[in-house]
Amino acid sequence: MSERANQLISDILRRVHEAIVENNVTYEEYQAAKQWFIDVGAAGEWPLFGDVFVEHVVEEQAFSNRSGSQGTILGPFHLPDAPLLDAPFELPHRPDESGDRTRVTGRVTDVDGRPLANANLDIWQADAEGRYSGFMPGPPDGNLRGQVRTDTDGRYEYVTVIPGPYTIPLDGPTGRMTAAAGWSPWRPAHIHLIVSAEGFEPLVTQLFIDSSDYLDTDVAGAVKPELIVHPEPVGDGEFAVSYDFALAPARTPAIA
Ligand SMILES: [Fe+2]
Repeated sequence: MSERANQLISDILRRVHEAIVENNVTYEEYQAAKQWFIDVGAAGEWPLFGDVFVEHVVEEQAFSNRSGSQGTILGPFHLPDAPLLDAPFELPHRPDESGDRTRVTGRVTDVDGRPLANANLDIWQADAEGRYSGFMPGPPDGNLRGQVRTDTDGRYEYVTVIPGPYTIPLDGPTGRMTAAAGWSPWRPAHIHLIVSAEGFEPLVTQLFIDSSDYLDTDVAGAVKPELIVHPEPVGDGEFAVSYDFALAPARTPAIA
């Protein structure tokens, strides 16, 4: 038995019980909710539900005192082992990939601004139509997923296209719940990253495109003002974004 488990489970159940009493929940509503739990499991949507409606609070709580750049939720669409890219550091894409071609550059440093050489940036994003490779029909496997490393001055760059906003799946139980509550199912356009370096806390974050709709109504509650970027036009229909990441030192394990 774990006192932590006892405390957490008791507290969550007590709050559910309070909500039932305060809202005078009927047996029909209870049966509908029970069926919905079953449907979420059958559809394999518990990771989606958790990452959209719960993870952002865990992230804010877990890293409220961390120094360095802001993080945000990991979400359900990361895949490990994306290819490590060489110059010119273009994320894998289709020959006719739609969307505005964009060069993203910046530096990875420690919290005092010292450059971190050989830091790794693991990047994944939706295409211009808001679709993730490996999860949604359309883009081929590995599309718009890749890793790059910083140079000796902590600098990185990669080339991609500006992603589109997307909705959580609308036809499953999570989407039906969102519609029943009258909430927007949209996420604003964003690029996911995990920035990591030896001896530092990995930073799981997203860069949000400032021209996107839904920045104020992200269904996943993951937007932070520090993470909104402005792609600048640089001619020939291309854009550029600059963003620097500062990593907090790795937490030292407690001495037993
Ligand atoms: Fe995403």
